[in-house]
Amino acid sequence: MAENERQLTVSAPVIDVTTDPVQGDAPPADPAALAASWLPEPDEDRMPMTLSTIDEDGYPRARTVLLTEFDGERLYFHTDAESRKVADLAANPRVALTLLWPAFTRQMVVQGIAERAGDAEIARAYELRSPYLRQLAWQNTADFAARSLAEREAEWARFRAAHPKPEQPAGWVGFAVRPHRYLFWTSHPDAASRRLEFVRSADGWTRHLLAG
Ligand SMILES: Cc1cc2nc3c(=O)[nH]c(=O)nc-3n(C[C@H](O)[C@H](O)[C@H](O)COP(=O)(O)O)c2cc1C
Repeated sequence: MAENERQLTVSAPVIDVTTDPVQGDAPPADPAALAASWLPEPDEDRMPMTLSTIDEDGYPRARTVLLTEFDGERLYFHTDAESRKVADLAANPRVALTLLWPAFTRQMVVQGIAERAGDAEIARAYELRSPYLRQLAWQNTADFAARSLAEREAEWARFRAAHPKPEQPAGWVGFAVRPHRYLFWTSHPDAASRRLEFVRSADGWTRHLLAG
């Protein structure tokens, strides 16, 4: 697919869960290293994840965002400063992230605190977005959504012709989620699914094996 046409793609590597350390007899002790071994490399397609925030009425509010980076400690996503998730985070920075791998092989759930990412990180992540996703960052507005399809298509084409590689919009922000709890779930063809949980404590991580 041409770069300009690339929208949201999801890579689907075949995962052999039978060799996953979560199912083995010596489960790993370092959740960040395990997360790094599961998550895509920086040059691979970005993975979708369900981001849950707490809304103004106290209900969980969930939506999909793309994981833009894992720096070995924190998970990053990027979004529009005017969005509901940003308002939710200003009132309560506690979040959950849920990532599901193809064919129901793995699930990773992270609970943590979302912190604003630095300007340099936001700029670097924006630079790596496809032209489609850069344009989306400009035109995914309430005003645009309220217009007719014909108007939206015309405006989309006009903007694309005028800005083949749009600059970063002013209201584009990023967040880094610092995990408080990790849950790694794996299935197994010949055994029950199993979870490995890590909870942050004063002196490192407390580890538990849980039923799937
Ligand atoms: C596969 C997929 C990936 C998405 N990635 C993002 C993203 O990285 N950032 C973003 O702001 N919205 C993304 N969206 C749109 C969000 O799900 C959501 O509709 C939007 O951010 C507004 O959410 P809010 O009103 O709860 O803030 C994505 C949607 C889908 C289906």
